[in-house]
Amino acid sequence: MRITVVGGGYVGLVSAACFADTGHFVTIVDTDPVKVDMINSKKPPIYEKGLLDILKRTVGKNLSASTEYESVTDSDISLICVGTPPGEDGSANLEYIRAAASSIGTIIGKTTGRYHVVAVKSTVPPGTTENIVKPYVLKSSKKTDDDIGFVMNPEFLREGLAVYDFMNPDRIVIGSKSRKAADIAEKLYSGIKGEILHTETTAAEMIKYTSNAFLATKISFSNEIGNICKILGIDVYDVMKGVGMDHRISPFFLNAGAGFGGSCFPKDVSALVSLAKSKGINPVLLNSVLDVNENQPLKMVEILEKRTGPLKNKKIAVLGLAFKDNTDDIRDSRSIPVICALLKKGAQVSAYDPMATNTMRKVYPDVEYCSSSSDALCDADGCLIMTEWPEFSELNDEFNLMKSKVIIEGRRILSINEREGICW
Ligand code: UGA
Repeated sequence: MRITVVGGGYVGLVSAACFADTGHFVTIVDTDPVKVDMINSKKPPIYEKGLLDILKRTVGKNLSASTEYESVTDSDISLICVGTPPGEDGSANLEYIRAAASSIGTIIGKTTGRYHVVAVKSTVPPGTTENIVKPYVLKSSKKTDDDIGFVMNPEFLREGLAVYDFMNPDRIVIGSKSRKAADIAEKLYSGIKGEILHTETTAAEMIKYTSNAFLATKISFSNEIGNICKILGIDVYDVMKGVGMDHRISPFFLNAGAGFGGSCFPKDVSALVSLAKSKGINPVLLNSVLDVNENQPLKMVEILEKRTGPLKNKKIAVLGLAFKDNTDDIRDSRSIPVICALLKKGAQVSAYDPMATNTMRKVYPDVEYCSSSSDALCDADGCLIMTEWPEFSELNDEFNLMKSKVIIEGRRILSINEREGICW
């Protein structure tokens, strides 16, 4: 099949690369010429395990990138993979969705006699595909839905594992009012094994939000139980291991810690809250999920202060800046509110992350960024572990460099006796 993927971010780029790797002819359209040049030179603009190898195999053969939408002319399907960043009230900003829909429609309007499917992969509030994408495409193309089909096909990729997740999906959700359009979307996945679920368009949109909200709820739930366990002197990891052995619960996303970050969970739960409120519903549980997540990282600083006394002029090492391991992404990382609280209290922060120091430098230019854990720990009065980088699990003698060995973990990763966990 011939596919145009609009948006070369991590969903668009990984989807495009993986579809090309299964034999389709794919063009990525992105407004950023630098990104386009990088893709065409087989250089991934983001780090994703396995992506470089796929670009090497496919670029110049059946994958290319462009700043223009012309490839829509001979494509069977266009996939909208643009960002939906949060607006000030937490609701999803759909301006890039509208722009992509109009641009795709304009090109479809210039072609004759070819049925085209427009599929939305971006995370969008229920109703967006039918009430925004469809009217924008139809208006700019001056065609009808006899000529163009509309599909919502959400993505469930984890950053860092996106290629693996794409090739090994738990499910492929295809939402559409049109069977013809849904069948064409299904053909995209002929090279990938995964159960296909056909739904209404709005249900597909809601499945994406609900999946992320449920996973976020599992984490905040585990954190709340962890906070209770800490007071009771119980190991929350033993508790959650026993709880997760119940097949109805499953062992995943029960790791208590400093809370969830990243570009998806905080944004998507907030968007769902905002959507519910706009319909007159007070989403009590989802609000609590966000509340627990806001307060959780601050507990790191509370525990630290209890151990060290006032933080003014104390040197505090923060190990881990990325929102999770194996990424340089710091979006909504729990280390951001922690560093903010430390600086407010007058602490001197020395920070280290294997990949994310350069990105964090833009947020907090005044922090001392170190090139190793040892450098950050040298003469420190306390240490906070914020990201589950595997290299931190090997730290041991390095802690002897500290002035005083106060080590608080926001991620369960160390094996030394002196560590104190945020909720263990
Ligand atoms: C998440 C979902 O896992 C994907 O299925 C989804 O497609 C993606 O959002 C998205 O909507 O695009 P991602 O943000 O890459 O993926 O990261 P996760 O691996 O899910 O981790 C999110 C946060 O939760 C991290 O800060 C992580 O440290 C934290 N977490 C995760 C916990 O605190 N405890 C856990 O048990 C698991």
